[in-house]
Amino acid sequence: MNNFTKKVLITGGAGFIGSHLVRRFLNNYPDYLIVNLDKLTYAGNLSNLTDVENLPNYVFEKVDIVDAEAVKVVFKKHQITDVIHLAAESHVDRSIEGPMDFVMTNVVGTVNLLQAAKDNWGKEENHVFHHVSTDEVYGSLGDEGLFTEETSYDPRSPYSASKASSDHFVMAFYHTYGLPIKMSNCSNNYGSHHFPEKLIPLMIDNIRNSKPLPVYGKGDNIRDWLWVEDHASAIDRIFHLGRVGESYNVGGLNEWTNIELVLFLCKMLDRKLDREEGESERLITYVVDRAGHDKRYAIDASKLEQELGWTPSITFEVGLEKTVDWYLNNSEWVNRITSGDYKEYYQKMYSNRKV
Ligand code: NAD
Ligand code: DAU
Repeated sequence: MNNFTKKVLITGGAGFIGSHLVRRFLNNYPDYLIVNLDKLTYAGNLSNLTDVENLPNYVFEKVDIVDAEAVKVVFKKHQITDVIHLAAESHVDRSIEGPMDFVMTNVVGTVNLLQAAKDNWGKEENHVFHHVSTDEVYGSLGDEGLFTEETSYDPRSPYSASKASSDHFVMAFYHTYGLPIKMSNCSNNYGSHHFPEKLIPLMIDNIRNSKPLPVYGKGDNIRDWLWVEDHASAIDRIFHLGRVGESYNVGGLNEWTNIELVLFLCKMLDRKLDREEGESERLITYVVDRAGHDKRYAIDASKLEQELGWTPSITFEVGLEKTVDWYLNNSEWVNRITSGDYKEYYQKMYSNRKV
């Protein structure tokens, strides 16, 4: 173990973005030990990593970040030199149903990790604690403008309030204790292994199964979509080259209303499933809106582009096609999820929503 140049703790590595990041780091940095720490909640899935789990630089630790003692043990056991923190409760609708899990994991869990890093690293240099956050901390935009790193925090859902709180603790550990933190705030991700409670994988799976497509409100809310592997490449760049104490916005200047996006997916799947044109579109069902639904997110990523030379690698059309193909070719991955506990959640979530 002592031959590794870094021992990087990636939290939430069994989740959607985390699994892409773990794979990228295992393959690109064979001289790093990658310790994937994950509680394996409903959203964590080790089958996301079967292609890399036998690599000699990979270790998995099933740990809840709310358990401060267990976190300390992992730090000591692997002599962790760096952290990339993604573990979180991540779904806005679930935060509306029950905020407390979000407070525990996203706030208390983050502070436990910060504390463990501070206690283990002391005044030594060359460590990095990279906190992965969201554009939702900035609140909601009107028709104009973009979120920059200077935009004031204005979280409006329990999820975004918990992420904003964790961001403030990260910055507080930098200013108070000199912990070498870096932070990134990214827009909506899409790609393979995305849990099917989120808009894009939910729509793909429902279209495939000819089930209703629940569009919240009028479908005119806007999200700025980025391919998950481009988010992983941005994290890689910020982790290695970003300035300590700084936050970087990540996004692809790719705004779509929800209804435009759903219609685009309907057309693509009609083609791929050999359906008559317009068949999938008939599944669209407008349902009761999300409480406090943020109208528009859009990211200005120019700091990341100008300072670190990062740009997205593919267009939305190409990325969506890859994503749809992955879901069609991996229906057993989705079926395993949709036939388990998630089925009950889905029925409860959508039973009273019909307009
Ligand atoms: P996800 O829900 O797919 O995965 C979260 C992972 O964290 C799961 O593997 C889960 O088991 C693990 N986890 C949850 N609670 C834990 C706990 N108490 N202890 C240890 N592990 C725990 O989430 P995601 O979409 O991959 O998001 C990852 C991170 O990126 C989150 O911090 C999220 O806020 C942030 N983010 C997500 C997006 C997006 O569009 N998905 C955009 C910007 C930022
Ligand atoms: O912006 C980054 C954030 O993006 C991340 O921090 C979150 O972890 C991630 O979940 C995502 O949050 P959103 O709330 O934007 O994503 P979601 O996929 O839940 O919803 C996208 C949009 O689609 C939103 O306007 C709500 C709408 N929607 C969603 C679902 C699940 C629907 O109209 N119908 C649906 O069934």
